Amino acid sequence: MPVNEGFRNLRGSYLFSTIAKKVAAYKASHPEAEVISLGIGDVTRPLPQAVVSALHSAVEEMADEKTFRGYAPDLGYSFLRETIAKNDYQDRGYDVSADEIFVSEGAKTDSACISELFSLDSRIAVCDPVYPVYLDSNVMAGRTGACDPVTGQYGNVIYMPCTKENGFVPELPAAHADIIYLCFPNNPTGMTCTKERLQEWVDYANRDGSVIIYDAAYEAYISDPAIPHSIYACEGARTCAIELRSFSKNAGFTGLRLAFAVVPVDLIRDGMSLHDMWARRHGTKYNGAPYIVQRAGEACYSEEGKEEIRGIIGYYMENARIIRDGLAAAGYEVYGGENSPYIWLRAGKSSWDFFDEMLERANIVGTPGSGFGPSGEGYFRLTAFGSRENTFRAVERIRNL
Ligand code: MLT
Repeated sequence: MPVNEGFRNLRGSYLFSTIAKKVAAYKASHPEAEVISLGIGDVTRPLPQAVVSALHSAVEEMADEKTFRGYAPDLGYSFLRETIAKNDYQDRGYDVSADEIFVSEGAKTDSACISELFSLDSRIAVCDPVYPVYLDSNVMAGRTGACDPVTGQYGNVIYMPCTKENGFVPELPAAHADIIYLCFPNNPTGMTCTKERLQEWVDYANRDGSVIIYDAAYEAYISDPAIPHSIYACEGARTCAIELRSFSKNAGFTGLRLAFAVVPVDLIRDGMSLHDMWARRHGTKYNGAPYIVQRAGEACYSEEGKEEIRGIIGYYMENARIIRDGLAAAGYEVYGGENSPYIWLRAGKSSWDFFDEMLERANIVGTPGSGFGPSGEGYFRLTAFGSRENTFRAVERIRNL
């Protein structure tokens, strides 16, 4: 029975599963250890009250035969699509309409599945380091070659190094890339890209016929007005870019699940409308995010919801400041954490050695930079998503090392 050969090329297990296993083994052998997790970017603040109230009333509607709802529209309820288009785009002067919003259960799923729009011989370009889902999903699809054990790079992939030297913003690829994955504010480095730099990418993609998959899951953390919240701030993005957004990192939906993709109707490749293709794909493979969760998403845009979300972001950004300042005072070279909840630090040794040392000597879980790609070697990522108390304790432990 032939299997999908792409899986044979995958190296190891999914990064965050590997870490979870290592941490579980450590905890089992050290039951007394008070381990603080600043590893996976999972939130700790509870849902905003506006969201909780919306959930309650939507549940009540589902309990009454007069207001009960069955299958959701596969592309999302119009109340949510219109609210998103207005608040995230039109009010900011970006040209995106409600029917270009595709509601889904998660940006991880969208970023893993979006490549179904492209042929298997199309070539991807990814930042290095990179959120592993973009790459692993393409390896599974069979779009890449095998992983070179020496370089740690998969064949037929354009790696775009993001290093201290280039400010962690990649150069335009030297060879033609069909699909370009960009994520800003960046996961894992926590660094951002100005509108001018992003415009260069949009111009490149339009010139070369590439499509940019722009992951803006962390846009709510941007406070610097020079940094765009959306790729549609750039001229010409409607003809070359798909944007992915999430309710996880701003409103705490990691356990609730809600996200959306923007696929503009102007995005045409090979005579095909990617918007229509994604609508067809969504309709065939997906039955819509739950009604109660879409009502919860809508509540994020109420005045009360927006206010509470500002409070949540402020809380995490204060954690980021505590980590940045604490690590800098302890002599570490630190990046990110200013318009992003991720802090990227120079480990001074191999990323996994640093991971082990942090776990064993400080009982802190972070994410080894090399897990995000070869250029992440020697770096380590911490998140600002912990509680304030744990953030203080973690910084104190690192400083005492
Ligand atoms: C991460 O830690 O990189 C992300 O939180 C994982 C995710 O959002 O799927």
